[in-house]
Amino acid sequence: MKRIPMIAGNWKLHKTTQEALELVKKIHHGLPQPGEVDVVVAPPFTAIKTIADFLKKSYIAVAGQNLYWENTGAYTGEISAPILKEAGASYVIIGHSERRQYFGETNETVNKKIKAALDYVMPIVCVGETLAQREADQTQEVIQTQITESLANLSDANMRQIIIAYEPIWAIGTGKTATPAQAEEVHAFIRQTVADLYSPTIADQLRILYGGSVKPDNAHELLAKKNIDGALVGGASLQAELFIDIIKSI
Ligand code: PGA
Repeated sequence: MKRIPMIAGNWKLHKTTQEALELVKKIHHGLPQPGEVDVVVAPPFTAIKTIADFLKKSYIAVAGQNLYWENTGAYTGEISAPILKEAGASYVIIGHSERRQYFGETNETVNKKIKAALDYVMPIVCVGETLAQREADQTQEVIQTQITESLANLSDANMRQIIIAYEPIWAIGTGKTATPAQAEEVHAFIRQTVADLYSPTIADQLRILYGGSVKPDNAHELLAKKNIDGALVGGASLQAELFIDIIKSI
């Protein structure tokens, strides 16, 4: 089956609302005609509404970078799925390695967050191994555990809403990209893992994005691979021209 490619920009902790608006205006202005590609930007929480309002007539969608698994309650500092949706987000990134590394995110919390998101926004679930794990030849084991535990107890209908991003930690923000062959190998493994856990049909429909130092000059080769359905872009998504060139390389 044909999977619609997706290019998502993860702005991390960059851009005030005003700066975010300037960036998204440039991206919107330079965007190719709507084609067979989904484009998503993930600004900081406080910019989501302004960006989503600006993008109402555009085909660019907005994502949150995180959420909490309860919808309301005494959870100071947290943001929930219904709040994200009301602000105009239609996606949310869950389990990014920076959340796992600095904020104690685990496969279990990722699983809870996915379940909380599903009625409101579509999860983009991140997995990936460290350099030490790759060098110890543990990549498949690590990814299999992350996928199995993060995606535990979801329905087939839930699985159709989910997007996975494979982001080798050693390639994030380092300028080191996985080679297209290395990435393709892990993407194929993720698809097979999901086929075993759910079904070959669900696995076939699943979009798996690659993330980790994606730039215009490596995007085309990565995206040409059979099991790579798009990119989750950090650094290069903060520069409109680079982000647009990555979209165009689809
Ligand atoms: P990078 O970040 O493109 O700057 O490597 C990717 C990500 O963290 O999603």
